[in-house]
Amino acid sequence: MQKEFDRPFVQSVLDDISHRMAGEADRGDVADYIPELASVSLNQFGIAVAPLDGLPISAGDANVAFSIQSISKVFSLVVALDRVGATLWRRVGREPSGDPFNSIVQLEFERGKPRNPFINAGALVVSDVILQEEEAKSEEHPVLELCRTLANDPTIEIDEAVFASEMSTGDRNRALAYFMLAEGNIESGVKATIESYFRQCSIEMSCVQLATATRFLAFAGNQELKEDWKLTPERARRINALMMTCGCYDASGEVAFRVGLPCKSGVGGGVVASVPGIGSIAAWCPGLDKKGNSVLAMRALEEVARELKWSVF
Ligand code: DON
Repeated sequence: MQKEFDRPFVQSVLDDISHRMAGEADRGDVADYIPELASVSLNQFGIAVAPLDGLPISAGDANVAFSIQSISKVFSLVVALDRVGATLWRRVGREPSGDPFNSIVQLEFERGKPRNPFINAGALVVSDVILQEEEAKSEEHPVLELCRTLANDPTIEIDEAVFASEMSTGDRNRALAYFMLAEGNIESGVKATIESYFRQCSIEMSCVQLATATRFLAFAGNQELKEDWKLTPERARRINALMMTCGCYDASGEVAFRVGLPCKSGVGGGVVASVPGIGSIAAWCPGLDKKGNSVLAMRALEEVARELKWSVF
């Protein structure tokens, strides 16, 4: 159902928030476990809303591209579900983990089946599923291809320097993959799975591109892409449910409480939030809190939701 959308009012709210965020001193810390992300300036903030109809509305550094990191897990989930449908859930669960995004502890108790597709272990299984289902190796990474299609922007690319940086420091992810290999839940090998996963994490997009690309969540699917990517209303609803319960890791409950919208974060400092029936929001500031979520992007989403009275509750 389409709800009323007052463009000038939304623009004034975004401008005001962007202005206030520019003056914030407490911005968190960049993700220095990926060296290439450690050099990104903290003094950037962008926000964009992509409504049901019309062009995106934005403020601040909304056209600056950044590393989408774990936000890519929304897109890889779409690709894997397109390829194998509900059989995916035999290999990955749908429960929040309550643990950090890169935690390994539950994997041993639960015999190599990750709790959900948004923690690193779950996203690695999703990458493996996609690799297994790629008949002929396509030229582009299927997640990159989907991002370009959804954002209607062929200029979106993988940041090779971020990819190389993750490859050189990603042993924790390798440990997760090896553990799941030992439990029979990785089938394409650790090397190929890790490479494919780091490639999708290294995709660069701006807030405007991300908000546009995630609009299908807010509009209960995408008529045009129903055939190509099976972006049906049911699928969009279920991805929203997973974002609400698992999209911000062990902070998902707090984000539901504060923002009240299905969100997905990434350690590049981006967060997307879908507003069913209205549109999609993307906010970005590279500084993170202890749980790996952007301090100012999350605060901005909380303020947008409050001022525009957007909530799923
Ligand atoms: O695998 C990693 O650790 C990163 N490439 C992605 C982690 C991430 O974005 C978690 N999100 N908050």
